Amino acid sequence: MNDDKFLPDMSRLAEAIRKHDCIAFVQLFHIGPMLPPFLRSERLYPVAASSLSKEELPLPNFIPPKGLDRDEIKRIIEDFVTLAHRAKRAGFQGVEINAACNHLLNSFLSRAWNKRNDEYGPDTIENRSRIIVEIIQGIRELNGKEFGIVVLINGAEIGLKDGIRPQESLKIAQVLEKAGADAINVRAEFYTPFRDPNKRDSTHFPDVALYPEPPFPVSDLMEDRFWGKGGWVPLAANIKQGVSIPVIVAGRLDPEFGEKVLRKGAADFIYFNRALMADPELPRKLMEGHPEDIRPCTGCLTCFDNNERGNPPLCQVNPTLGKESLLPISKAKKKKKVLIIGGGPAGMEAARVAALKGHEVILYEKAPRLGGSMLLASIVKGLKRENHLGLISYYETQLKNWGLS
Ligand SMILES: Cc1cc2nc3c(=O)[nH]c(=O)nc-3n(C[C@H](O)[C@H](O)[C@H](O)COP(=O)(O)O)c2cc1C
Ligand code: SF4
Repeated sequence: MNDDKFLPDMSRLAEAIRKHDCIAFVQLFHIGPMLPPFLRSERLYPVAASSLSKEELPLPNFIPPKGLDRDEIKRIIEDFVTLAHRAKRAGFQGVEINAACNHLLNSFLSRAWNKRNDEYGPDTIENRSRIIVEIIQGIRELNGKEFGIVVLINGAEIGLKDGIRPQESLKIAQVLEKAGADAINVRAEFYTPFRDPNKRDSTHFPDVALYPEPPFPVSDLMEDRFWGKGGWVPLAANIKQGVSIPVIVAGRLDPEFGEKVLRKGAADFIYFNRALMADPELPRKLMEGHPEDIRPCTGCLTCFDNNERGNPPLCQVNPTLGKESLLPISKAKKKKKVLIIGGGPAGMEAARVAALKGHEVILYEKAPRLGGSMLLASIVKGLKRENHLGLISYYETQLKNWGLS
């Protein structure tokens, strides 16, 4: 998005979304201190509100970032505004400004990252929020009042002495509302004590934060009864009672749990990410009253690990993710009899696709139940962090629907 040469492709994307009566938003973020190793170079290094030494870092396994001077801040604000304007020119109706996780904008909001002593410093909520307020004002001025601006913030930075607390995130949300934000999306960054030397040990996935169990008590901050499902909902509810703009929340939600969140009034919108990567047809299947046909996300996080390495999209349960137009399932010209040996994940998926293509399918499985190695995996892994049994049930339903023997 950083050049007008991408306008035609961006426009195609916006149009593809809008032609289905959906509202097209795009997220803007500066990765800041989280710059992954594969992107680092002499020219590209982690930056934050302040330069921090190894000792000052929120966790020792982060890379010490370089602090930004005022001119650099000004340039970054201009970049956000230019990107939002390009998004509008491409046909997007709004942007989400990502000021959460441990990205650049969050490093201004958080006292754990922000050690400045100027008007962007940590002494007041207004100063901490200033860079985001200036971005919002710039976008409003250029894109007009009809253009949507959502800001994604951390409702809390859990596990840090100087991390954002819920009382502070509420005040931040109020400042952003006053500056012209149309909605606030709430998540949290969870800093765990040192567990894995190869990882940063901070996460915004509530299901990861709670696995195998929280390293310290968290029930005053997050929903910890459902293995991460709806983990950040209490933080969203805290903000919702203090602002008049809509509040959004994500985090291992499924349609049933999400509906409860909305009915309880804990948030105004719910977000699905992994659930939609596992089954992009989820909204249609729900609308048509067939939740049993939704292919469930197991929570394995193959997608995220792969994304962190800079690879194209990959999902454990949806082999066509990101390749939908290359791998369409069309009717075969000639109907054949297909025999599949083994009712494990590969066999079941092959049977499903062959049936969708119109073939007559027979699936042989020697065990009394379908699932193959997924059944063993469920015994070893349990159901808390990853859930394979849900996927087996999905295949059983699909294969029954198609009348497979
Ligand atoms: C592969 C992958 C990429 C992601 N990229 C982003 C991103 O660019 N910006 C963002 O705000 N969140 C990103 N997230 C986090 C999701 O937006 C979402 O908050 C998180 O997955 C929790 O929601 P879920 O349980 O519905 O997946 C990503 C998550 C995954 C799995
Ligand atoms: S890779 Fe795993 S966690 Fe990611 S969407 Fe697919 S099933 Fe869910």
